[in-house]
Amino acid sequence: MPHFYTKDLATPPMPFEEEGFKFCYEAQSLRDSKVSLICVQHRLGDFCLLKIKQQGGVLCKGEKSTRPIPVGILQHALKILSHYGKEVKGNLALSHCPSGAHLVDFNNFNFERFYLEIGFGSGRFLLQKAQANPKEVYIGLEVHTPSIEQVLRQIELLGLTNLYIARADARTILEVLPPNCERLDIHFPVPWPKHPNRRIFTPYTLENMLAVLRPQGEIWLRTDSLEYFKASLELAISAPTCHATIAKNAPQEGVVSKYEARWVRQKKDIYDLRLKPTTPSTRPKLPLLLSAGQNIKYKGVKAASLWQEKPKMGENYFLNIQDVLEYGHLWLLSVSLGDVRSPLNKVLCWDRKGGLGVCGGAPFNTRAQHRAHEALCALLREV
Ligand SMILES: C[S@@+](CC[C@H](N)C(=O)[O-])C[C@H]1O[C@@H](n2cnc3c(N)ncnc32)[C@H](O)[C@@H]1O
Repeated sequence: MPHFYTKDLATPPMPFEEEGFKFCYEAQSLRDSKVSLICVQHRLGDFCLLKIKQQGGVLCKGEKSTRPIPVGILQHALKILSHYGKEVKGNLALSHCPSGAHLVDFNNFNFERFYLEIGFGSGRFLLQKAQANPKEVYIGLEVHTPSIEQVLRQIELLGLTNLYIARADARTILEVLPPNCERLDIHFPVPWPKHPNRRIFTPYTLENMLAVLRPQGEIWLRTDSLEYFKASLELAISAPTCHATIAKNAPQEGVVSKYEARWVRQKKDIYDLRLKPTTPSTRPKLPLLLSAGQNIKYKGVKAASLWQEKPKMGENYFLNIQDVLEYGHLWLLSVSLGDVRSPLNKVLCWDRKGGLGVCGGAPFNTRAQHRAHEALCALLREV
């Protein structure tokens, strides 16, 4: 990941703007005097740079939870900052930065019909499907940033206009996507033999997968793991409303994913599980993203009382404030919140004279995020 060390960093007074970036302010950690966050705005979103004082210098890198995609944006911002450093060392060579036009815009997600792939990896399957069916919309979800970057470049190279991808954990986003999915592909998911709770296929996600399908829609799981296949089939059988069909070593639909090619070379068996909903989804349509802005009056209690709080684990939500960073009347709250099984790290910005915002994009509007957010607001109302 891009970073640099410098003996000394003397930036112009903030805010200052350069090359499409606005370096807004630097907030100082109240927990660790060596740490600060620089908030940066760019047309593709806002993010934070982490500045850590070290013996004989300063380390600057991207703050993980707000790290932008494409990562070239972060490289570019760090490069600008490094010009104000003395004796700079690091990896800041600017590579080609895809435009980001093919990232899913969750503020305007209004596709009436789409094909979804969870965990697209190298993107081979998704790219070929989108290329072969230009009239259909394809959406891909991944958690692995280098794969996302690579597929963004491929989309640009191929000139595709019907494929959008997102860095998103399928376990959370499935809870909020609209029921417009024609087919949901999960091909060769990580089987997690020792940690089945980390799988994509759990009772909770299966319910949400069925809920995003159109009436004739289908979930297609393809796996080389017999254990994963059996466990997923058992889940499907115990689901109240779905119709399952299975197959072993069935021919592919003409496109072979990278993992499938590997398992075929190794002569492994491949199992298919196809599921269709038997009743239409009744999930209410909600905004995809959680709106953070609430007016919370500050009562003047010290920041330490926030990060010294024990993590809150309520009924199906988690909240932990790890740090508070201060800039004037702004407090940046470095938090981990949401679902107990997959909490999200976020940087929230609490203007103690106004509302609460999120840096690096709002979280998905899931039930667990809602609960965690309400718990956070209740906590802030007390301080
Ligand atoms: C074994 S690879 C398979 C890639 C591809 N489908 C293929 O067949 O070549 C599994 C992929 O799922 C992604 N993944 C794992 N958990 C995920 C999650 N919760 N949400 C989205 N993607 C996930 C991983 O990053 C990885 O790229």
